[in-house]
Amino acid sequence: MMNVIVTGAEGQLGSELRAASRNSANNYVFTDVCRLSGADTSYLDITDAASVKAFFLSRKADVIVNCAAYTNVDKAEDDAAAADLLNRQAVRNIALAAIDCGATVIHISTDYVFGGDGRVPYKENDAKNPLGVYGRTKLAGEEELVGSGCKAIIIRTAWLYSPYGKNFVKTMASLMATRQEVGVVADQVGSPTCAEDLAAFIYGIIEKGMLGHTGVYHYTDAGVVSWFDFAREICRLGGWDCAVKPLRSSEFPSKVRRPHYSVLDKSKTAETFGVEVPYWKDSLARCLPKIK
Ligand SMILES: NC(=O)c1ccc[n+]([C@@H]2O[C@H](COP(=O)([O-])OP(=O)(O)OC[C@H]3O[C@@H](n4cnc5c(N)ncnc54)[C@H](OP(=O)(O)O)[C@@H]3O)[C@@H](O)[C@H]2O)c1
Repeated sequence: MMNVIVTGAEGQLGSELRAASRNSANNYVFTDVCRLSGADTSYLDITDAASVKAFFLSRKADVIVNCAAYTNVDKAEDDAAAADLLNRQAVRNIALAAIDCGATVIHISTDYVFGGDGRVPYKENDAKNPLGVYGRTKLAGEEELVGSGCKAIIIRTAWLYSPYGKNFVKTMASLMATRQEVGVVADQVGSPTCAEDLAAFIYGIIEKGMLGHTGVYHYTDAGVVSWFDFAREICRLGGWDCAVKPLRSSEFPSKVRRPHYSVLDKSKTAETFGVEVPYWKDSLARCLPKIK
């Protein structure tokens, strides 16, 4: 039996991983700095190196899934030190503690490590060019993991949504239920990812004993769509009577420049782990009723 420690377990991905692992024969331990779900969540602040090391050693960690991160992309622009602490320094804490336990780290990163000026899906080793603090600190976190020499699987994902926390689908659902019109940017494209699908992928890696495949991988749902078309589909599936209007990025006030093209190539992931990635519309149709 393996001991699997999940950090940031009260967030979107952590919550889905909790649900996915309910019937596992392995021992999953869920940790966070907050406790929202009412479920059994242990307190672990990953910015505290000594606590991280003591926790992993006392629980005899075999696998650490790091779902914790500073994820507020706009706020990070004014709060670079806090973003660096959580997205880089804390990842180093996890890496060093994992080495002491001989554990493997599964770490989640982002499409924002790329500049978004491409035209074909980004492969794992393509040149990085983060546009803001969030992307820079997440890239620095990846580099800390790789530089530490710990056993690590780094999974870059994008456009996560779920019934938990804050995300685009939940925001649209609440706006569309109350407004007659919403404006959504139409000149940024990417691939939505249902957090349940990503959690199932991570759970499969652990449960099928595929932890030896260390390296960097991409995982999003399949297909490419603009935020505008994504919103249209949310509105259609939700049955709301709300007009969705296309906006240019320049019309949408934001502190941070966002990638125009955020599509990740998942062929290495499919070849290595033998996964079939669900189509984004199918996943949205499955998830939206839980959000509504
Ligand atoms: N959301 C997206 O669209 C997206 C896109 C690409 C990649 N990702 C990556 O995917 C991963 C999961 O994202 P998510 O959306 O599930 O994140 P999330 O919902 O923001 O969850 C992160 C969790 O980490 C907790 N946390 C904050 N500080 C902590 C600390 N010092 N120690 C331990 N836990 C702490 C947060 O608590 P508080 O809520 O109290 O802060 C929250 O419960 C992240 O690595 C993120 O960068 C996300």
